[in-house]
Amino acid sequence: MGMVLPFDVAARKRYYALLDEVFDASFWSDGPKLKQFEESFSVYCGLHAKGISNGGVGLLSILDYINIKGMDVVVPSNTFWATAQAVKKAGGTVVYADCNKEDLCLSYTDLQKRITPKTKAVIVVHIGGHIAFEIEKIAAFCKSKKIILVEDCAHAHGAELNGKMGGSWGFAGAYSFYATKTMPMGEGGMVVSTDKGFIDWVGKYRNYGKEVVDGKVTYPILDGFNYRMNEFTAALGIVQLERLPAILEWKRELAAKYDAIFNRRVVFSPNMKSGYYKYITFDYKLKEKSGGVYGMSDLCHVIEGRKEELPNTMWVAEHHQCPPIFHGWEKAGLKISELSKTLL
Ligand SMILES: Cc1ncc(COP(=O)(O)O)c(C=O)c1O
Repeated sequence: MGMVLPFDVAARKRYYALLDEVFDASFWSDGPKLKQFEESFSVYCGLHAKGISNGGVGLLSILDYINIKGMDVVVPSNTFWATAQAVKKAGGTVVYADCNKEDLCLSYTDLQKRITPKTKAVIVVHIGGHIAFEIEKIAAFCKSKKIILVEDCAHAHGAELNGKMGGSWGFAGAYSFYATKTMPMGEGGMVVSTDKGFIDWVGKYRNYGKEVVDGKVTYPILDGFNYRMNEFTAALGIVQLERLPAILEWKRELAAKYDAIFNRRVVFSPNMKSGYYKYITFDYKLKEKSGGVYGMSDLCHVIEGRKEELPNTMWVAEHHQCPPIFHGWEKAGLKISELSKTLL
C-alpha cells in the first residue's frame, strides 16, 4: 500500500497564492514567510520557535548550544537513529536507557540508573505522537541533578499533556516536518524553547553563525553551518499548520474507532491528547499496518551492536503493531467502515 498524502485543491490554491507572494518578494530565503511560519508555530505551541532545515539538525543545534563535548547524554534506544546521531555529531557519548511498555517512552526508573558523573543532558523522545507519560517526573529529576532536558518532538505535533505541548518541559525541543510526519513538508524542522536568547542564537547558528547588526556583519558562533529553511518551504509550513487541526481531528476520530476494536494498546489518561502520529497496539495480528514505530533492526543500540540490558525496549520492538492512521489512509483504498478487517 503506497503512502498517499492528501493535499486538497483548497490547500493547493492557498499554497500557490503564498508562492506568488514569495516570487513577488525580494528574497527567497530567511524572509517574511519564514518569520510568519515561526510566529504561527510559536503561538500554536506556546514557545519561542525558529525554523531549521530538518528535525535532526534541530536536535544538533540544541546539543551544540548546551555543549555536550566529552559528556554523556542519556537517550532511549527505541527512537529513530537521528536522536543518537545528533549526540555523536555534537561530540557527546550516548548512554542508552530503557523505555516503558505503557507509553514506549523513556523510563523514569531506568533513567536514574544511567546517570554518571559526566551526564550533561537527557533526551526524551515523545514516541508515537503522545507526550512521554513520565515527563513531569523526568523534568523534576533533571532539574534536581542540574542535568539539561531536551525533547525530541519529531512525532509530537498535536500532542498535549495538561494543556502543554512538546518542548514545554525541557530546555528546548525539536520538531520534524519530514515527509511522513503528522505535519509533513517534505523536509523541515522547528526548534522551540522558553529561552528567547537560545532561540535567537539558533537564528544565527543556522546561517553559518553570522550576525548582522546595523549593517555590520560578525560571526559570533563559530560552529554554525547552513541549516536554513527557504521561503518556499516556509510557505508550505504556513499552509500545513493551518491544516493541522483538521488533520488531528481526522486522526482522533479514527483513533476513537480503533479504540473500540483494540483493547491491548497504548492507553491515555484524560489529561493527555495524542496527535496520533501512530496508533500503537500490542500483540495483534494486523492485515493492514502502517509499520510499527521502531522494530528490532531500528533500535539504536542494536544498530551499534551494543549489548545494553534494555528489556522493555526489546519487548516493545517485538510486540507492538500499528494499524494505519496516516492522513490519506482512506484515499489509499481503505474504508473506516471496514476497520474490523484490519484484524487477521
Ligand atoms: C524520533 C525522531 N527524531 C528525529 C528525527 C529526525 O527528523 P528529520 O528527518 O527531520 O531530520 C525523526 C524523523 O525523521 C524522528 O522520528
